[in-house]
Amino acid sequence: MEEDQVICSCMNVTTGAIVNAIKKEGLTTPEQIQDVTLAATACGGCQDFLVDILDEVNA
Ligand code: FES
Repeated sequence: MEEDQVICSCMNVTTGAIVNAIKKEGLTTPEQIQDVTLAATACGGCQDFLVDILDEVNA
């Protein structure tokens, strides 16, 4: 997983920012990630990535 890869280009959110938010805030759903990081709050095209990252962090 590339930590500095921007997965949400609308809101300029990186994989690392999402992973950190999941770990620090104990996030468990894509909706919580949206609230905290703003990823997937514009076009929504990156929504599936949020699920993938959640799965990977919680694996
Ligand atoms: S790429 Fe994430 S909301 Fe558009």
